[in-house]
Amino acid sequence: MSLIAPHGGKLINRVVDANLAQSVAKEAASLPALVLSPREQFDLEMIGIGAFSPLQGFQGQADFESVCRNMRLANGTVWPIPVVLCPPNDQAAKIQVNQKIALKDSQNRLLGVMTVQEKYKHDKELEIPNVYRTSEDAHPGVAQVRKQGDTCLGGPVDVIQANYEPEFPEYRLPPAKTREAFAAKGWSTIAAFQTRNPIHRSHEYLTKCALEMTDGLLIHPLVGETKSDDIPANTRMDCYKALVEGYYNKDRTMLTVMPLAMRYAGPREAVLHTLIRKNYGCTHFIVGRDHAGVGSYYGTYDAQKIFDQFDVPKEIGVTILKFEHTAWCKACAAVVSSKTCPHGPDQKVAPSGTKVRELLKAGQRPPTEFSRPEVADILIKWAQSV
Ligand code: ADX
Repeated sequence: MSLIAPHGGKLINRVVDANLAQSVAKEAASLPALVLSPREQFDLEMIGIGAFSPLQGFQGQADFESVCRNMRLANGTVWPIPVVLCPPNDQAAKIQVNQKIALKDSQNRLLGVMTVQEKYKHDKELEIPNVYRTSEDAHPGVAQVRKQGDTCLGGPVDVIQANYEPEFPEYRLPPAKTREAFAAKGWSTIAAFQTRNPIHRSHEYLTKCALEMTDGLLIHPLVGETKSDDIPANTRMDCYKALVEGYYNKDRTMLTVMPLAMRYAGPREAVLHTLIRKNYGCTHFIVGRDHAGVGSYYGTYDAQKIFDQFDVPKEIGVTILKFEHTAWCKACAAVVSSKTCPHGPDQKVAPSGTKVRELLKAGQRPPTEFSRPEVADILIKWAQSV
């Protein structure tokens, strides 16, 4: 039994070996320092642990341009979203090419060292419309890019410690560890479920349909930076744990987290999420309606259609499990989609997000056809505390 190969063929590890860490830290003390933004810090962690394989560092100009234009690295490997380090302009001005720099967090703690191989213009006019399919500042991903510096630094990184206060340390398994766990369980086909929301009945349905086709299921919430009106990761984790405890077969289900910052780039982000899960050892990836979308920037199934632009078996190697919009149907007494159910919208239990938040705030559970009571109760507590 063998696991799926990582993207690019080899799992990258840019975390400095424990017995070298001291000498790297000593060297870093005399280097110019750069404080990373939250997104950059999460990206550093993703690079370090190999979740961004084959990336070894922040992307250089040829990769940046090729990614924006063609959704590929300069060597042709599929990669849909730039991973760039763009410090504030005054700080970038002080950094020279071929120099090493110390990467720090906001409290001035050493995260790692980067060898700056390239310094180039951050072409936001190339990145924004290509990656986000809009140039509107109201789009949270676009707004983030606009806030970044006008210069990118490219080069490999050596990570000492990417995060001094990691959330959910016992669930924060790097790709090498999820791979070990899958092998130990004897799973060779694994479906990954990306989410940045509590798991409601529709989500649960997707995951269980997927598990009918695979050996195991990886519930893999994103716990990096999200926008302020998304439900915080610690509340979501409580929901996931309660749900796995009560409603999933634990011999077939794993819950671990992914420290990626959301881009809200819809279709392109669906491709990124797939490649990352391949690195974690997953063979199948769930893409439902408006995956990684925000507002009404993307069509309901754009994040599925984007895969038509690739030779998926050859270039991506993960089976994309595409699901139509699902909801509980009263007439069927089951979660259904338009693919499986003949009844109309009047039979569906699909309260709007706003309605659900109103109910929670008022201390009321949404219908059990929408959300499991254990999940609803955790969300009520959260809604009443904010
Ligand atoms: S996302 O930003 O991580 O995509 P969310 O956590 O809401 O947001 O969705 C997780 C996954 O479930 C995505 O693949 C999304 O497309 C899918 N999904 C969410 N709700 C539904 C639904 N009602 N029907 C079908 N797919 C859904």
